[in-house]
Amino acid sequence: MIRTNAFGTRVALAAGLALSVTLAQAADAEKGRQKADQVCAACHGKDGNTPIDPSYPRLAGQAADYLYVALKGYKNETRKNAIMAGMAKPLTDADMKNLAAYYASLPGSLRVKR
Ligand code: HEC
Repeated sequence: MIRTNAFGTRVALAAGLALSVTLAQAADAEKGRQKADQVCAACHGKDGNTPIDPSYPRLAGQAADYLYVALKGYKNETRKNAIMAGMAKPLTDADMKNLAAYYASLPGSLRVKR
């Protein structure tokens, strides 16, 4: 059921805000860095910007929410990729938040920061 009114919009906005605050508070980029160095750097590069193959995505500077959702997708197989499924399966929810926060904090080469 979709019923739009000012109140509903405000509730949805508040819920969205609460979610991103939770994500920001729960994430520990330093823990993410440790895991990234051990596991992810092998393919995505130590800086998240120098993947070992040009078809492997750059993670540095991507939005934390996006990276988190991507990892969750690989874990529950709504996003299908054999390599990343294997990588995401052992990750906990906290691991994924930490990794997302870490890669989001790195300077990306994908877009010009103004
Ligand atoms: C064996 C190589 C390999 C390792 C190790 C690896 N990845 Fe990946 N990763 C890939 C490939 C290949 C893709 C592209 C998959 C696709 O097309 O969906 C990818 C995609 C991703 C994406 C989606 C990026 C986007 O722009 O949509 C994220 C996020 C990601 N990896 C995070 C990680 C994290 C975090 C780790 C460490 C826990 C990791 N990867 C380890 C190969 C690897």
